[in-house]
Amino acid sequence: MCGIVGAVGFINPKEYIIEGLKKLEYRGYDSAGVAMLSDNTIKIIKDKGTIDHLATLLPECFDTDLAIGHTRWATHGAPNKTNSHPHISKSKKISIVHNGVIENYLDVKSFLNKHNYDFATSTDTEVVVNLIELFYEQNGDMLTALQKSMRILKGSYALCIINVDDPNSIYIMKNCSPLLIGACEDFTLVSSDAGAMTKYTDRFIELSDLEYGKIQKDKVEIYNINGQRVDKVATKKNLEDLEIDLNGYPHYMLKEIDEIENVIHKIISQYYVDDEFNFDKDLLSDMRRADNIIFIACGTSYHASLVGGRYFEVYNKSASIYFASEWAFHPTFPGNKPFVILISQSGETADVIHCQKIINEHKIPHLVITNTDGSTLQRNAMYYLLLYAGREISVASTKAYVAQVALLAILSRALGDIKQVITDLYKCIDIIRDIRYHWQDKIKDIAMQIKDIKDVFYLGRGYDYFMALEASLKLKEISYIHSEAFAGGEIKHGPIALIEQGMPVIIFITDPEITHSIRGNVEEVKARGAKTFTIARDSLSRETDTIIIQEYPSYLSSVAVSPFAFYLAYYVSLFKGYNVDKPRNLAKSVTVE
Ligand code: AGP
Repeated sequence: MCGIVGAVGFINPKEYIIEGLKKLEYRGYDSAGVAMLSDNTIKIIKDKGTIDHLATLLPECFDTDLAIGHTRWATHGAPNKTNSHPHISKSKKISIVHNGVIENYLDVKSFLNKHNYDFATSTDTEVVVNLIELFYEQNGDMLTALQKSMRILKGSYALCIINVDDPNSIYIMKNCSPLLIGACEDFTLVSSDAGAMTKYTDRFIELSDLEYGKIQKDKVEIYNINGQRVDKVATKKNLEDLEIDLNGYPHYMLKEIDEIENVIHKIISQYYVDDEFNFDKDLLSDMRRADNIIFIACGTSYHASLVGGRYFEVYNKSASIYFASEWAFHPTFPGNKPFVILISQSGETADVIHCQKIINEHKIPHLVITNTDGSTLQRNAMYYLLLYAGREISVASTKAYVAQVALLAILSRALGDIKQVITDLYKCIDIIRDIRYHWQDKIKDIAMQIKDIKDVFYLGRGYDYFMALEASLKLKEISYIHSEAFAGGEIKHGPIALIEQGMPVIIFITDPEITHSIRGNVEEVKARGAKTFTIARDSLSRETDTIIIQEYPSYLSSVAVSPFAFYLAYYVSLFKGYNVDKPRNLAKSVTVE
């Protein structure tokens, strides 16, 4: 869950290294560093903190044409200067940056101990650089050293490696973590993400798992684990899809919430063409045949799955919804004809990738829903559907969540050719605009009232409960307020004991069939001293409600009302002075299990 960059043949690559790393901060941002090779020496500058902080430590100009850089999300060892990358080998001849997790690093460490290697850090990466050095010293050839190391290392890695004996090359190696080469006129770039290289090229070569090689100013060599040369050509990517720009917004999160209405337009235009649903016919017939739809996802995508599960019940199908991190270790395929849906904004979430491997081994039909074209999940999918939400940078997922729910609504209705869903989604756009243009001040006001509070509850029933779960996750991840969501009927079975005088409880009231019950819950928490904020649908509203939303069909609660929850979390975080887009301890792509 880290970001890596490298440049070879690029005179003074400082700007690329720094700007590239900044674009990769979504992959982690607790420490950062750079290694450059000049005059037969490797110079490393690294520290705990952000890329901006790293930039203050760097010289005006990089006196080299070969450098590698890293932004880290700590897995092995605390986020401090010692554990940050790049790491250097015992002889100080080889340096490395790594994204991923080496599962057998303790075994490799013992093996290296026997060859007189000691370790200064708690990282798995220091083990890798020394393993490569050991093999290099044994045979004097870096490519052979990489191949031999690849046969030993277990786990995920994207690596860039430099060696003082070869000042014209960056060596690379990949398994289960993305690594792309950027083909440029006068130099060659490498990174975990094409987005870091878009200023210089739109042509990329993607390494596959268990490939290694070397890049030079004007040459790329790639080999598979058997040492056979692999011919790969650079393919052109649409730079618009890769661009990461704030467009004048103070934060990506605010920009991305404001983009939600366009995201819904886009998704309709992709999956509803000429008044007909536009899906692969085989996908629809596999889904129609299924008697149980199994959803597997994490975090926000899991919350979208909860909503999706209910959508398919319309067709007398059952739905089973699992956290990927749980299902992976207890795989089960309920139903006689199961069909699996894997949802992941990034398409790179390690827990979900683990599940996909199991599903493919069992040859169960599955669909991947992702926002990331070219992602690992998409590449290994039987069927896939893209969200077309545009790149989501803020760690807090917003527009992608709405796109996931909207797409699940369209897909489920496509099974029965129920076109009303399109009109319903357009109606949601009106409500989203209403929240954006008429309710922001009120939302800021609520944010001011809860920003210094320790605990917040969210309540809802039915679809509103799923909405409450997502609203609560969003608040806790960027404001660090302890927040919990409950199904309205559950609070009297325990959680109501926690209600104290003045404790904020935010309640969604959008479903006519359960209004009476949820109103009862409002009274129950009020009677125990809670300060309630009610978000109610117009026809169900009372004068005392905090926010009144225009009419829309209840099944689209998570599409229509989620911007309220997102803006609220955003403003609370903003008013508390936190880094909205990069909350502590988190990363956008969770590429470790
Ligand atoms: C959302 O705000 C979170 N940052 C997180 O829960 C996220 O949804 C989760 O890590 C899953 O990511 P994915 O959709 O990319 O698989």
